[in-house]
Amino acid sequence: MGIVNQDNITEVVIASLGKHGDITAREREIATGLITHLHAFIKDVKLQHHEFLAACDYLARAGKLCNDNRQEFILLADILGVEVLVDMMTNPIEGGESESTVLGPFYRENPPVLPKGGSTIQKHFDNEETAWYEGYVRDADGNGIAGVTLDVWEDAPNGIYENLDPDQPEYNLRGRFETDETGHYAFVAVRPVPYPIPDDETAGELLRFMGHHPNRPGHMHFIISKEGYRPLISQVYDADSAWLDDDSVFAVKQSLIGTFKPAPEGLGTDLHFEFDFVLKQAAAEQAVAAE
Ligand code: BEZ
Ligand code: FE
Repeated sequence: MGIVNQDNITEVVIASLGKHGDITAREREIATGLITHLHAFIKDVKLQHHEFLAACDYLARAGKLCNDNRQEFILLADILGVEVLVDMMTNPIEGGESESTVLGPFYRENPPVLPKGGSTIQKHFDNEETAWYEGYVRDADGNGIAGVTLDVWEDAPNGIYENLDPDQPEYNLRGRFETDETGHYAFVAVRPVPYPIPDDETAGELLRFMGHHPNRPGHMHFIISKEGYRPLISQVYDADSAWLDDDSVFAVKQSLIGTFKPAPEGLGTDLHFEFDFVLKQAAAEQAVAAE
């Protein structure tokens, strides 16, 4: 069945899977789905050859943009709502655990390790609003978890992440904190401001192709981890921020929205932001508990 026509092409390509080399069941599942949906898409939009060549050129240009500071394919996936969908498939909410959302391209490994209540601010901006962030990290039964690591990062009051801004000190507005014996965390940072994702080059071309804008609402990123629990990659959003209902990467979840309030006397910051998280046990721990 090697001779193809419009009606059998999908079937013929799928039949070739694994013919000349072993493939796993998962590889077969993914390849079959990819071929099926890609062919259906091409037939659906009646893709023309010059459009196909333009797409190949576009992907080649996107690839050339990738380096240690820019992962263009994550950006493109974010603009298409793909990363948030993959995250929802990977981390379905099954109990009362906190929702995850996209990692985004701006996380840096090994941020400064800071004491509870320490500040991530290394450079001040005229328009900054400082904030005391605090809350509890709990398990599904409501018990505070001690010794949880929280990596946090955000954009500066000029809307730029430190690693993309030569005028900010290394690791500005990034830090690693730990919960105390009651599961409580606290740190000082700034109120995050809305910012545009990089919209030059191929990411910008895609946004314009879609007639969409690049803006994200103000948010603080978190990676919350402790052995025995599923790591939580998430963001918390400022309830009063612009773009909350129209995020360029579709990553806002209702349960991740919190409110900046004026700080009580004595806290030493302009604002106060309280947010609790619930971690889910890791799959292996769950299996042991179920035995
Ligand atoms: C971010 O939140 O940092 C981000 C997420 C997706 C694309 C670009 C940036
Ligand atoms: Fe961000």
